[in-house]
Amino acid sequence: MTAQRKHPAACLIGWPAAHSRSPLIHHYWLRTLGIEGGYVIEAVPPDDLRDFVLRLSLRGFVGANVTIPHKESVLDLSTPDARALAIGAANTLWFEDGELHSTNTDVEGFVNNLDACAPGWDKADEALVLGAGGASRAVVFGLIERGIARVHLVNRTLSRAASLAEKFGTAVVPAQWENIAELLPRAELLVNTTSLGMHGQAPLDIDVGLLPASAVVTDLVYVPLETPLLAAARGRGLKCADGLGMLLHQAVRGFELWFGRRPEVTPELRSIVEADLTKV
Ligand code: ATR
Repeated sequence: MTAQRKHPAACLIGWPAAHSRSPLIHHYWLRTLGIEGGYVIEAVPPDDLRDFVLRLSLRGFVGANVTIPHKESVLDLSTPDARALAIGAANTLWFEDGELHSTNTDVEGFVNNLDACAPGWDKADEALVLGAGGASRAVVFGLIERGIARVHLVNRTLSRAASLAEKFGTAVVPAQWENIAELLPRAELLVNTTSLGMHGQAPLDIDVGLLPASAVVTDLVYVPLETPLLAAARGRGLKCADGLGMLLHQAVRGFELWFGRRPEVTPELRSIVEADLTKV
């Protein structure tokens, strides 16, 4: 199928079609930057992914976001950068000199959100990361890239933490869930990448009172926006960065690659997306 589009457009490739805030974010930037372009959701079943991606340009798209369940499969259909390769998954596709490239923008979403909300966070010697799934990989990559000397990686299933740690070298140390209390007093940065605290899930039951007074706390969960973890950390006067900030910051690079302008994460954009979150 060849699509004739009047203006450059990007899409979100996933299956099944799920509710996503990405159109809201990219439409806001297109509108405020005065760019005539589009961003649409494309529900693509796994069996059709290859054909869809190989004909992305013919379909009139300048690039795409990729979500569940396609983030790993697109690596073989594109030229992945170092981040996508290290993480083993890509969430953004774009064309350069006619070639399709892929990257994982969760890394810069994570670090740029911390830079915006807690400047100086990377002076931490030790970080404690909870969870060892896909999101955790991007977080650990970002922490190592920014020079954090030691990352304690705790996961309910220890073997998953151990295999993730193996990929990142000796700076990443796997630990049991039961060790959290003894690791908290050393953690200058605490990151929750598990689904605990998410709407409908059990809260993350840890004592933020054990963290040093200078600690920064960040939660990748953004529904609710203020998770029980962030509420407790704020109550103690700790610096915090929320998951919505990461979601917004991870979208910046894709937009820049597709439409040629680097957009900003503004308070207005935040409040538009926040209003959408309350519809959940
Ligand atoms: P994502 O891509 O968002 O990281 P994921 O790969 O499914 O999603 O990872 C979910 C993470 O949340 C995992 O670290 C998972 O722990 P396990 O590896 O032991 O499954 C963690 N998680 C989910 N529910 C949890 C719970 N009730 N208690 C502790 N950890 C939990």
